[in-house]
Amino acid sequence: MSDLPDTFDDAFSVVEQSEWLRKVFPSVVDAELPGEVEPFSFVPAAGLAEVAAAVRVGPGGLLVDLACGRGGPGLWVARRLGARLRGVDASPVAVAAATRRRALFGPGLDARFAVGDLAGTGLDDGVADAVVCVDAFQFSEDHDPVVRELRRVLRPGGRLALTCWESRDLGDSAVPARFAGLRCGELLRRGGLADVEVVERPGWEQRRRAAYEAALAAGPSDDAGLALMREEARSALGSLPRLRRVLVTATNPA
Ligand SMILES: C[S@@+](CC[C@H](N)C(=O)[O-])C[C@H]1O[C@@H](n2cnc3c(N)ncnc32)[C@H](O)[C@@H]1O
Repeated sequence: MSDLPDTFDDAFSVVEQSEWLRKVFPSVVDAELPGEVEPFSFVPAAGLAEVAAAVRVGPGGLLVDLACGRGGPGLWVARRLGARLRGVDASPVAVAAATRRRALFGPGLDARFAVGDLAGTGLDDGVADAVVCVDAFQFSEDHDPVVRELRRVLRPGGRLALTCWESRDLGDSAVPARFAGLRCGELLRRGGLADVEVVERPGWEQRRRAAYEAALAAGPSDDAGLALMREEARSALGSLPRLRRVLVTATNPA
């Protein structure tokens, strides 16, 4: 999600109780997403496959999912790669849900989740072969410390893949402030990352629009998650054409 109510803990408490957000929303984002993923984000299965390919982690490598939410997208990528997974999120409710979700991905997956911040993960220096961050980089108030933290936990040569949005026009006051001046590639280059590539993924954005339209078209319901999505749809639909949907990849220099 890109715009949310008061706190993520509140939002995730709603999600846990919402049949619409847990079952209908993922199938609208992409019917190909396996049921166990239950994302709280807007990346279709082919997008997660792109993220997995971009991080180039081999079996047994360590993948960090920064702002992992309820864990599904990172678990999907880790399972696909045969990697070990460490997920970090600011929301204890999300971390507890991610820890429960791990079992849905099969017994062989080494995955652990902990409460932490984008700028302070609590992970050791150089521990990660790769870091992924799905639809969450925009929530940082100050991106430079987040980039420093990414580099600190990545081993030399380690890879980063993040999904985000940026305003098409720099400083556009018609989009949420968190996107108005966001230039992920510039932030990563300034922080010393190499091989930085920013590619636009308009097809993913169509799925976000579809999810909003499905929420608005759904009939009367007392599902609080559906109400949450309708609220977000009303506030965000108008600014979608002013945003570009991006996949950003980079390498921590050796
Ligand atoms: C839109 S959700 C995406 C969650 C997950 N990546 C997914 O794809 O389902 C954004 C996530 O960012 C987390 N978050 C926001 N600000 C954070 C921060 N400063 N440090 C750590 N996590 C944060 C939220 O708790 C939430 O789980």
